[in-house]
Amino acid sequence: MSIILVGGEKGGTGKTTLAVNLAAQRALQGRDVLLIDTDIQASASYWAQSRDEAGVQPRVACIQKFGKGLQTEVRDLAKRYQDLIIDAGGRDSVELRAALVVAERVFIPIQPSQFDIWTLGRMDDLVKTAQGFNPELWAGVVISRASTNPVVSEVAEAQSLLTDFPHLRLVATVIRDRIAYRKAAREGLGVAELKPADPKAVEEVRALFQEMFHE
Ligand SMILES: Nc1ncnc2c1ncn2[C@@H]1O[C@H](COP(=O)(O)OP(=O)(O)OP(=O)(O)O)[C@@H](O)[C@H]1O
Ligand SMILES: [Mg+2]
Repeated sequence: MSIILVGGEKGGTGKTTLAVNLAAQRALQGRDVLLIDTDIQASASYWAQSRDEAGVQPRVACIQKFGKGLQTEVRDLAKRYQDLIIDAGGRDSVELRAALVVAERVFIPIQPSQFDIWTLGRMDDLVKTAQGFNPELWAGVVISRASTNPVVSEVAEAQSLLTDFPHLRLVATVIRDRIAYRKAAREGLGVAELKPADPKAVEEVRALFQEMFHE
């Protein structure tokens, strides 16, 4: 059983992209996974709907949940599914705060251009507050949509900035900006299911998946 939240206060950092890829990957392992879309923009729900319409197997179940009742819902759903993956919208919301209280792990994608003290400080505070109710909560920052140009050393920069934020870890896997993520998403697929495959994207998601699920 795992309850994973992909969240953060910045928009467009790749939260939904990561959430749907992890859900697809988990489903491919034969796990009974539920994707919980808490964003009114509903991009995760559209992804699951395109997947259904295209008849892609395995199916990934997805539901939408809004508001404070999310905590109780999640606890209840946790009894019926093996894994819950929660996608939160890119802002401070009731849903983000509620999900932080019930999640085991939160992954916070950040674009290298947004590595600033303000963003990380806000997330560190939110996580700290949530840990008051949910002491086991683990929070990791994922570098997302990074340039494919290898001279840019986002990791070193992120690592040094993060030392000031005691509640946040840095996830080792870096997700880079690749067309495959956009293509796969449009078809209701994870990058591992896209044909022709982009082996670099597939490898990134595999590595991130392993970190997320401790395998
Ligand atoms: N690694 C990536 N490579 C290429 N494109 C990406 C990548 N991650 C996300 N994108 C694209 O960037 C846009 C925003 O991504 P996504 O919807 O996943 O972000 P988000 O954090 O969920 O946004 P929001 O805050 O609005 O919920 C989408 O068009 C998506 O296809
Ligand atoms: Mg989103």
